[in-house]
Amino acid sequence: MSSILAMHVAQPSRRDAYLDWLQMLSGAALVLFMWSHMILVSSVIIGPGAMNAIAGFFERTYMAQIGGPLVFAAFLFHFVLAARKVPFRAEKQGVAWAHAKMMHHRDTWLWIVQVVTAMVILIMGAIHMWVVLTSLPISAEKSAARIQGGWWLLFYLVLLPMVELHVSIGFYRIGVKWGVIKADARSGAKKAENILFGVFMVIGLVTLVRFMFLAI
Ligand code: HEM
Repeated sequence: MSSILAMHVAQPSRRDAYLDWLQMLSGAALVLFMWSHMILVSSVIIGPGAMNAIAGFFERTYMAQIGGPLVFAAFLFHFVLAARKVPFRAEKQGVAWAHAKMMHHRDTWLWIVQVVTAMVILIMGAIHMWVVLTSLPISAEKSAARIQGGWWLLFYLVLLPMVELHVSIGFYRIGVKWGVIKADARSGAKKAENILFGVFMVIGLVTLVRFMFLAI
């Protein structure tokens, strides 16, 4: 009997623990990348000269040409690791949804937000990186022309909140899961996560407005 049970009940293994570590490390690296990315792109608020100078630096040092594909690879790697726990089949999605409703537990809902935003980011992030990295060099004027065209504005108005939700919830969940945020500190950490989300949304939206009104 016990051997039959052992066949059906997943046993946590050392391999799972390593994969969880790698998922956390790749996620943390992508969070840091995303915060830097938003701050670098927002340099256009100061002026197109500032953004072009930063983009020029990244291209002269080959950080864009080499770093870009590496970010792409980290992005896919993180997805494959996280997909181990994503319910892809309708029947499992139903169970996850029923559990979330039954438990009235905020962090369970946050996990569902992570899964849904991940799917959107996987597709839109890949399209975005492909377009930017196959039309190097980056320039404020080129980015502004894309955004003033209209479709890319719409695209970023969807991608931006998805990314910011995923990044700030991800940062909070790393803290909870790995024991940095203790039970009594959860609500404070949740507030900090909301502030982070708000700050990066404002930076992103102001940047998009600046691109819209940049003379090409
Ligand atoms: C190395 C890879 C990347 C490069 C070189 C890059 C570069 C850029 C550039 C130049 C822009 C300005 C708009 C444009 O030119 O169309 C931009 C905007 C944006 N990127 Fe990226 N990006 C990269 C990766 C990512 C990833 C992985 C994500 C998220 C999945 C992302 C999300 C965004 C968003 C949301 C905006 C709009 C920014 C705003 O609202 O201010 N990017 N990126």
